[in-house]
Amino acid sequence: MRNYVDNAVEQFRTILEEQIARQRKMETQNEYTDYKKLDKIIIGVCGGDGIGPIISAESVRVLEFILKDEIKAGKVEIRTIEGLTIENRIAHNKAIPDDVLAEIKACNVILKAPTTTLKGGTLESANVAMRRELDLYANVRPVVVAEDNIDWTFFRENTEGEYVLGSRGVEIPDTLAFDFKVTTNEGTKRIARAAFEYAKNNGKTNVAIVTKANIMKKTDGKFSEICHEVAKDYPGIEAEDWYIDIMTANLVNPRIRSKFQVILLPNLYGDIITDEAAQLQGGVGTAGSANLGDVYSMFEAIHGSAPRMMEEGRGMYANPTSMLKASEMMLRHIGFAEYADKLNKALQICTEEEVKYKVTGHSDGVTCSEFGDYVMETIEKL
Ligand code: IPM
Ligand code: MG
Repeated sequence: MRNYVDNAVEQFRTILEEQIARQRKMETQNEYTDYKKLDKIIIGVCGGDGIGPIISAESVRVLEFILKDEIKAGKVEIRTIEGLTIENRIAHNKAIPDDVLAEIKACNVILKAPTTTLKGGTLESANVAMRRELDLYANVRPVVVAEDNIDWTFFRENTEGEYVLGSRGVEIPDTLAFDFKVTTNEGTKRIARAAFEYAKNNGKTNVAIVTKANIMKKTDGKFSEICHEVAKDYPGIEAEDWYIDIMTANLVNPRIRSKFQVILLPNLYGDIITDEAAQLQGGVGTAGSANLGDVYSMFEAIHGSAPRMMEEGRGMYANPTSMLKASEMMLRHIGFAEYADKLNKALQICTEEEVKYKVTGHSDGVTCSEFGDYVMETIEKL
């Protein structure tokens, strides 16, 4: 037992030193990518696992259609990145094998399909690793349900909290297990600033800061405190504290939910509550997600790789809407707002206004590529 304790204490020292160094690095980070100033934007596409290659191929087809002039003029390149698959990751015993990471880093922006995340074990999630390696600290997830007057934008902290040491907990066999949650000043400041800047630039007047600071006193206490400090620089915007439990109820409470605009929260709460929010919009298959850093950005679906669909031979009926929403967010972020508006409008028409073909995930619906065709035809008519 003594040995276990000594090892755990030693591990904790290492972790603490690493995390202090990470906070220092954030303090001094001063690199930024201005996509508008790049001669050529390289979009890397990672196909992922399960239905990933199917829905990402469809998004590439739609993007190549939308960006045909820019691609022809050499202003945009869409580059396929192989190897971010569960088989290759297990073979290298690495969340992102080194050569794949190098290819990713040679791009400016990534469109990433879902990747399989193993339960337990030590192989880290590819999502989490990519968010950390590219320092993608703001996970932005919009949810809109027009008829219920819902227009939410979640700003989920994306590099720390419960995730930063997710695979490095401590276990004393047959006795206990520990995981770590880390909240840094700088990590909180930058996500808070991203949320308040977004609010300011988009005419939003309310930011809900969601924690469980009554229980997670140190980490969530710090998160809330720092968010309020940042809020002082945004006098027209109301900053309100909410606890995650009641906020989960609020999102399904028709009397209160439409008042929320921007929702700012630590990593794990953001993970959980954005699935709930996406469900209100029509399911996780309808939601895209932006992972933004100062240098890189990555866009993805919020759902997983749907292994059950593949096992049941239904992969071709997968719904590409989430990846197309992610593509829309990507277009907007890299400076093609007009194209993003068009794609958004086309998706609205195809999924809400005049649903001629529906993807159901089963053979009673259209296939992923038939839906892609429908989206492109619709864009052409706009
Ligand atoms: C998400 C996903 C990921 C997460 C998983 C796949 C690691 O659920 O992007 O919300 O937990 O962040
Ligand atoms: Mg999630």
